[in-house]
Amino acid sequence: MTRAQLERDFERFKRALPRDFAAHVRDSYRVDLSARYLGCPLAHPIGKGSGQLSLNAAQLADDAAAGLAYVVLKTVIAQDATGAQAMAAWAIHETRMKVERRPAGGRAGWTVTWKGRGWDRSFEEYLELVRTGRGITAESRMPVVPSAKYHLPRLGEPFRDEEYQYTTRRLAETWGVPPLLLEVDFSPTLAGDALAGDRAQILRWLREVPGRIRAASPTPARLAVKLMNARYDDAFQLEMMAACADAEALVCFNRLFDAERGVAYGGWELSDRNLRVLDATSDPLTARPPDRPSLVGTGNICSGRMILEYARRGCESVQLHTFFQLPLSEYPATHGSRTQRALHALVFHPQDGLVAGMLELEESGALARHDGVLYFLDVARRAH
Ligand SMILES: Cc1cc2nc3c(=O)[nH]c(=O)nc-3n(C[C@H](O)[C@H](O)[C@H](O)COP(=O)(O)O)c2cc1C
Repeated sequence: MTRAQLERDFERFKRALPRDFAAHVRDSYRVDLSARYLGCPLAHPIGKGSGQLSLNAAQLADDAAAGLAYVVLKTVIAQDATGAQAMAAWAIHETRMKVERRPAGGRAGWTVTWKGRGWDRSFEEYLELVRTGRGITAESRMPVVPSAKYHLPRLGEPFRDEEYQYTTRRLAETWGVPPLLLEVDFSPTLAGDALAGDRAQILRWLREVPGRIRAASPTPARLAVKLMNARYDDAFQLEMMAACADAEALVCFNRLFDAERGVAYGGWELSDRNLRVLDATSDPLTARPPDRPSLVGTGNICSGRMILEYARRGCESVQLHTFFQLPLSEYPATHGSRTQRALHALVFHPQDGLVAGMLELEESGALARHDGVLYFLDVARRAH
């Protein structure tokens, strides 16, 4: 009965996805998709990761209209009051992106190849985008959160506090009503840089950066640290997570770095690695403290099933980039924006969608109803 209804919804929503599809899922299937990001309650777990798809007002408006849960803006490179940027090498201009197939272990997959790095326009233009995002949040309740990359010194060198102070103060003023929500990026190109050649240096950044941003903010701030996939083993990923105990959330983990080609990449190798490391965090010997930080998944999320893989390892929401960028022919929906088509497949696909996956967890006894309702957040809660 429920399966037949899922097939029917999948078919009819190919033409148009209801804006409040989470309410439809709750009413029709008694499945509650509520999720969380940096303490914000979300209608469902699917957000957009920072990158080339959150650069302008038109993209944000499309995402709000599609019913996306939240958006993280492109990463801006911090500066001081004179405009000096210690990390200026990350503020380069590059427009060409290539969406490519990247199979791994017999599985078809995708990656986006791109040589660019951070926000390449002025800081004032970035603040204008943050302001636009605040307006969209007020109208649609879709959180739009800035992302920044700050000065990262070599061991023994001091942090450039002027950059931390100026950038954070301007972001907080533009944001308005506290708390400021902010993501801090430690990007894959950083993992490929000589700066990240020293483990102690990376751990110092992770230990100190959240506190420096908090100290620089004139209002209370909630910080998500987006961790890179460093060029070391899984144990070091766990060390990085532990070093960041001071953040409110950890986004696990940004793309892998191909040193030969000098580009970041995703696909199955990325999700294999991320899920393997997150698995290790539920090992009692390496377990994180139960109260914080909360976890957010990213990497090769192309189905509701994959959202549940991250959720089963504790992630309370997810951030996608590549799946919002595929050729239109790859989505089963026939109408709507790419975001709508992606959401349609992620939520309603009768085999691989989020609803189907939740019902399957129930059938296998891995997830139980409360007062007749299945809760997405119960999947993440069980991981702790
Ligand atoms: C073209 C491109 C640009 C990106 N730029 C940023 C960025 O500026 N800051 C950031 O934190 N992550 C950035 N990312 C990482 C994505 O937000 C996302 O975490 C990552 O691609 C893994 O998700 P996916 O497999 O769904 O693409 C970028 C990814 C791509 C493909």
